[in-house]
Amino acid sequence: MQNTQSRRIQHPQYGIDAPGLLKFFFVSGVISATLLIAAFSSPFLSGILKQIACLLLAVGAFYLLGMGCFMFFYSKIQKLKDRENLLNLVEWSGDELVLDIGCGRGLMLIGAAKRLKAGRAIGIDLWRQEDQANNSLDATLANAKIEDVLERVEVKTADMRQLPFPENYFDVITSNWTVHNLEAQVDRQKALDEMIRVLKPGGNIILGDITNQSEYISYFRERGMVNVRLHNNPIQDAILKTITFGSFAPSVALASKPNNTHEPNGSEVVG
Ligand SMILES: C[S@@+](CC[C@H](N)C(=O)[O-])C[C@H]1O[C@@H](n2cnc3c(N)ncnc32)[C@H](O)[C@@H]1O
Repeated sequence: MQNTQSRRIQHPQYGIDAPGLLKFFFVSGVISATLLIAAFSSPFLSGILKQIACLLLAVGAFYLLGMGCFMFFYSKIQKLKDRENLLNLVEWSGDELVLDIGCGRGLMLIGAAKRLKAGRAIGIDLWRQEDQANNSLDATLANAKIEDVLERVEVKTADMRQLPFPENYFDVITSNWTVHNLEAQVDRQKALDEMIRVLKPGGNIILGDITNQSEYISYFRERGMVNVRLHNNPIQDAILKTITFGSFAPSVALASKPNNTHEPNGSEVVG
């Protein structure tokens, strides 16, 4: 007889992104809501002063708790849908060698591995807990096992500014919500240079991020990449940028490495 434990269906856990920020939104939202209740029922406040205090606290609590809920919803549900949309942006044959940079708990890495029949997907990460809760090499491999792609997945500890791979090695490179974690532009450019170095001629980069996309697009063009373009939803972009004061507008920069036989100078750019 099977016990309850073995009958339970396991689901992959792709982790909460920026857990410190999420905590900040919930804690400060609860504090604002508590102060709102206190101000509303206070015998020491009255008239216009009470109305202004209550209004400000209500707006603050609504915004902070709303942002917390949105971040939680995004990490738990929406990012799984977005992963498929991102991976659909390139053609797959099923025998690609894929690199996922900043793989975290394996969202893109495992999504890519599911599209492979003969290929392999390699993820690299530094496992920074402030960027994603409880990410680790073991957690990623556990998710790969649950998703039944363990034999096609490999995970390494490495910095995106110094990739431990030879040049012209990967067919597809993915990276989601990772490069913006490098604060200095020079470091972000190092990471992009590394992507270009290890990508095969004719290979594709799918670079999803929450900010800096125009910088990535310009840099890819400067470095002679082709089919460089931004994939985004302008309406969603405008709404998210407004409510997050410009700090959060997820979209995707796409680029391909020129195929030397057809584009000797690598100078063609499609915008
Ligand atoms: C917000 S998480 C995104 C994880 C995953 N790509 C996803 O979409 O779920 C960012 C990841 O980038 C990793 N990271 C940050 N700096 C890095 C660096 N210099 N090199 C490699 N990975 C890094 C963090 O450890 C974290 O796992």
